[in-house]
Order: sequence, then C-alpha cells, then structure tokens
Amino acid sequence: MERCAIGLVGWGTVGGGVVEILARDRALFHDRCGLDLQLKTIVTKTPSRRRDQAATGARVSDRLEDLTGDPEIRTVIHLVGGIDEATRICRALLEAGKNVITANKAMLAMRGDELFALAAAKGVCIAFEAAVAGGIPVIAALRDGLVANHIDGIAAILNGTCNFILTSMESRGVGYAEALAEAQRLGYAEADPTLDVDGTDTAHKLAILARIAFNGRIPLTGIRVEGIQSITFDDIRSARTMGARIKLLAVAQRRDQGLELRVAPTLVPLDHPLASVNANFNGIVIQGSAVKTLLLVGPGAGALPTASAVLADLVDVVTGRYQFTASRFRFFRSDADVPLVPEAEELTSSYARFTVPDRAGVLAGIASTLGNHGVSVLSVYQGAPDPSGSAVIEATTHPQRGGAFLSAIEAIDRAGLTIKPTVVLRRL
Ligand SMILES: NC(=O)c1ccc[n+]([C@@H]2O[C@H](COP(=O)([O-])OP(=O)(O)OC[C@H]3O[C@@H](n4cnc5c(N)ncnc54)[C@H](OP(=O)(O)O)[C@@H]3O)[C@@H](O)[C@H]2O)c1
Repeated sequence: MERCAIGLVGWGTVGGGVVEILARDRALFHDRCGLDLQLKTIVTKTPSRRRDQAATGARVSDRLEDLTGDPEIRTVIHLVGGIDEATRICRALLEAGKNVITANKAMLAMRGDELFALAAAKGVCIAFEAAVAGGIPVIAALRDGLVANHIDGIAAILNGTCNFILTSMESRGVGYAEALAEAQRLGYAEADPTLDVDGTDTAHKLAILARIAFNGRIPLTGIRVEGIQSITFDDIRSARTMGARIKLLAVAQRRDQGLELRVAPTLVPLDHPLASVNANFNGIVIQGSAVKTLLLVGPGAGALPTASAVLADLVDVVTGRYQFTASRFRFFRSDADVPLVPEAEELTSSYARFTVPDRAGVLAGIASTLGNHGVSVLSVYQGAPDPSGSAVIEATTHPQRGGAFLSAIEAIDRAGLTIKPTVVLRRL
C-alpha cells in the first residue's frame, strides 16, 4: 500500500466535500488503486469555524507554511475562491514544489498562463478537472478520450445557478427576480449572484474548455458575454411558442476564419439534447471530427460532485499519471493565439420579437427590411393584437452573418416600424 500525505488549503464547501469523501471512502482508494490517501494538514483562514477538526485526523492551521514547508506533502488541494489571494496561494505552493489541484476557474481563466508557466518551471503540475462543470469529467474527456478528434464545436450549459433560474421561470411562470430569490433561498445562488447571472463564471469555464479543445491561448476579452438578467417571462413564453427553451449557453464554434466564442442566452430547440438539461444541472455537447456528437450531463457544482472531480485529479497526480499527461500535452503551455471571429462575421441563427402598432403594412415593412439586409427568415409568427393596439411579430432566421441581422433590426427600429426596442436572442 502506497501512503500519500496530502494537504488541503480552503476548508469551505468543496473542501468539506473532499474531507468527507476521504474520511468515508478511504477504503475505495485502497481497493481501486492501492493508495492510502492521508489528509495530513488542512490550512484554512478561520480554523475556529470548523467544529469537526478532530474527526479528520488532520492537523488544522491557518499558516500556509504548514503546507509549503512540509517535505512529506507533495500535493496540495487548493480550494480557495477569488483571484488575487487564490493566485498568491497557488504561486506559493508551486514555488515550494507542490503539485496543485484546484477548482478555481476564475483564477485559471485570468492567471492560468503565468501559473502553468511557473508549474512547468518548477517541474510540478496543476490539475483542474473540478474547475469546469463540477462532477462532469469534461476536462478528461476533451484531453484524453477525444484526443483523436478535431473539436469542431462546443455548446454547453455551465452555470447551475442560471439554469436553475431559467428553468424555474418557465416551470413556475415567474419573472427573473422571483426565480432568483427562490434560487437564493434554496442555496443554488449566492447572496451576491453577479458573477453567475452576468455570464462571467460561464465565460471563465468556456475559456478553459476552449484552451484545451483548440490548443491555444484564449483571451477572456475574446469571449462576448451576455447574462440572463434581462430575460423576462415574455421571452420564455415566446421561446415556447417558437418550439424552444432559453438557456445560458457557452458556445465555441470552429469556422474557416477562426473560432467563434460567446456566452449568451440562447433559444435551444426542444428536440436538442441541451433543452432537457434542467434545474441546476450542467450539460455539454461536443462535436468531434470522429466521434461526431457527444453529450455529457450531470451536476455542475455542489460539495460532493465537485469533490469527486478533485479526487479524480488527486489519484491521477499521486500515481504520476497526470504529470506524464501534463508534460506531454500542450494545453495551457501553447502560446499560439487562436484566431477569433469578430461578432459581425459570426454565423448564427437569431430570433427577434418586434412589438408593433396594429396597422396594415408593418409586417411587409419588417419582411422587406430583413430581405434588403440579406437576412433569410426561417419562420414568422404574428400574435393577435392586444386591446392597447399593439401586436407582436416573432421571427427566426437561418444561420447568417450576425452583423447583417443586427443592422436589419436597427433599421427596423429606426424606421418606426416598432413601438418598443426589438428583443433579439440567438438561436442554436
Ligand atoms: N461550491 C461549488 O459547488 C464549486 C463548484 C466548482 C468549483 N468551485 C470553486 O472552488 C473554489 C472553492 O469554492 P467553495 O464553494 O468551496 O468556496 P467557499 O465555501 O467560500 O470556501 C473557500 C474557503 O477558502 C478559505 N480561505 C479563504 N481565504 C483563505 C486563505 N487566505 N487561506 C486559507 N484559506 C482561505 C475560506 O476559509 P474559512 O472558511 O476558514 O474562512 C473558505 O472556507 C472556488 O474557486 C469555486 O469557484 C466551487
């Protein structure tokens, strides 16, 4: 039996999941791979908050040096959130020659290049399966299982909070604020949910996935990001009439000119597999040149699902399997810039909802403006006028240059054909 002394920094939600699995299922690791994983030292900011210290069998402290200065500990699980402090801790661990396993996607998306360079210089590794999609082993799938594939595209639901809110708006018939309040009450949304609902968290995860899938540097600024804060129940209802459901999607699509990258609320047709990924679940569709379409679905967060991914990395690192992969594969070491497609050149299907006065000629005016801009319409739906004399016209388009569509919408609103700004969403 190989005994491995492990360190942990950050004993919060995910750290708690790691401690729980290591205490409860230690025998699993003996039986599966002959490892005796011993959590030797836990460093956390406020040790007094944890009443269950004795049960861990670990030394608990608030001094990072108890990890960096212990030669017996060669691998440290890093479960501290945020960016600056988390990066400082990660750097200190790497400088001390420790392998690091982290779930911190914000840190990797913002500071990954410098951290991976430092790890390489120190001859250690950073493993990060838990940083994207919690319990779903998507990093391993892209890196190992799909190594024989050019990745043509990824479309993914990567934020459980947003997915919970959108599902709840549809199933309960409520607006955004009410669905968010419910998500907070049930623990699916933070007290300050900004980074989830504005799409930033999804963009961090997309940057990490795209780096592996497309083998190059993905600047966060190259990802166009829109959140779900302005989605209304009317949008959700309209999506249903068009046979679709709104999801916050992360999309990376390879085109001849380069890579399209975006995070945006998107109409997903009901017969697409991502349409039935509901509540707080995550789902990822990967298009590979050989495998064609692959769907991964599962819990994208939570103490135990995320700890499951952390401990998969731990086994890979302590057996040396991960170091071999990290030294051999180029992800996070390639400094090639992946060419990105500008928004106006993106090839996307779109949806528009026009609120118009109830008078003859408006539909014809909208149709001819779309036509004049070269927009090819897939379907049009016109609702009955309401008592105030306004009516709704909805249209979806075939895939085309995003720029043409947006200029057509601008021209329609400017020409006074509409009485409210037109609602525009992308369509998968
Ligand atoms: N929660 C999830 O489901 C989930 C899923 C995927 C990825 N992640 C990522 O995993 C990371 C951890 O998330 P979490 O939800 O476990 O966060 P959390 O519950 O807030 O726990 C973070 C812990 O870090 C500790 N900490 C903060 N500053 C520290 C410092 N300077 N030195 C030592 N410890 C420090 C805090 O310790 P004290 O409590 O002792 O003050 C806290 O318990 C984040 O990057 C998050 O984005 C989380």
